[in-house]
Amino acid sequence: MAVDASNALLRWYAVDKRRLPWRAEAGERPDPYRVWLSEVMLQQTTVAAVRPYFEKFTARWPTVEALADAPEAEVMAAWAGLGYYARARNLIACARVVAGEHGGRFPDNEEGLRSLPGIGRYTAAAIAAIAFGRRAVVVDANVERVVSRLFAVEAPLPGARETLYAVTDTITSEERAGDFAQAMMDLGSAICTPRAPHCPRCPIAAHCRARVRGEQERFPVKAAKAPKPRRTGTAYWLEHDGRVLLVRRPAKGLLGGMLALPTEDAPAAAAWREAGAVDHVFTHFALTMRLLCANTDDPPEGEWHEVERLEEAGLPTLFARLAARGAEWRASPPLAFGGEGF
Ligand code: ADE
Repeated sequence: MAVDASNALLRWYAVDKRRLPWRAEAGERPDPYRVWLSEVMLQQTTVAAVRPYFEKFTARWPTVEALADAPEAEVMAAWAGLGYYARARNLIACARVVAGEHGGRFPDNEEGLRSLPGIGRYTAAAIAAIAFGRRAVVVDANVERVVSRLFAVEAPLPGARETLYAVTDTITSEERAGDFAQAMMDLGSAICTPRAPHCPRCPIAAHCRARVRGEQERFPVKAAKAPKPRRTGTAYWLEHDGRVLLVRRPAKGLLGGMLALPTEDAPAAAAWREAGAVDHVFTHFALTMRLLCANTDDPPEGEWHEVERLEEAGLPTLFARLAARGAEWRASPPLAFGGEGF
C-alpha cells in the first residue's frame, strides 16, 4: 500500500501541483534561500496571505546575504501584517548566521538546519526535502489531516502528533522527496479539505480507511480546546504637529520588536479622550484594546511619525487598526474640546 499510494500521489502532483512563486519549475534547481523564506512565512499562515510578502521580500532582498545586511527595522516593517513576529526576528538572526558563518549556504540536512534560529522540526524537514531532495518526514497541518484520515487515527491531536509522524514515515517516498512533501500539502489544501473533502478526485482514496467507513470528516480527532482567555489593555494616540508618537516594543513578548502605539502607561499628561476599542485574537488569548487620544504642545522625546504617512511605518495589524481609530478621532475631535478657552 505504501508504495502504491505514494506513486499515485506523485503522478497526481506532476499534473495538478499548484504554481507557487517559491516552487522551482520542472528541471530547475530549487533555491534554498527561497525555500527557507517561504517555509518560515508559511508557518501558521496561509498560502494566500504569504504570496505578496514572499514577492516583496525576494524583490527587495534576493539573496540571504542581502537579507543579512538589511537593517532590522526595515525587515520588521516589511513583515508587518503577517503576524507571529518572532519569526521575523529569527529570520534576520538566521540570515546573519547563514551569511556570516556558513558562507551564504544553508546546511543541506535536517540536523544542520535545526541548529539555525527559527528552524524547528517541521521547517528543517521541509527545507531538507524541498531544497535538497533529502528524504524527510514532513508533517504540517495539511499532512496531519491527510494521514489521520488515511490511517483512521483515533488518538486526538495534539497528543497524536508522534503517531502521525510515524504513519507519515511509512508512506514517505525515498525518491522525489520534495515533490512528495509538497504533494501531501497540496492534497490537503485542495482535496482533503477540513469539510466536505473531494474524495472522488483523490488519487489515494482507494487507500483511505476513513473513507471506507464514510467518516472522513471525523478526522483528525481533536482534543477539546479550552476557551481563549480575554485580556484588556489601553493604547495611546498622542499627537503633535501632524505627527503621532510611536514606540518600538521590547524584543521579547507580544509583538516583540515591532513599532507600535504606546501601551499601558500614558506617554504624557494630557487631556485623554476615549476613541473606541479594537478586538484582536492572538494565539493564546483574545485582546480588547481601548484607545485614548490627545494632542500635546509639549511632545516627549521619541519616534514621531507623520500621521499622513502612517501606512509606511510598518505597524502590526492590531496597531494599524487602532491607528485607523486615531485617524477617525482626529477627523472629528469630540465636542469636549469645544468651549474651552472661550
Ligand atoms: N505550506 C507549507 N509549505 C508549503 C509548500 N511548500 N507548498 C504549499 N503549502 C505549503
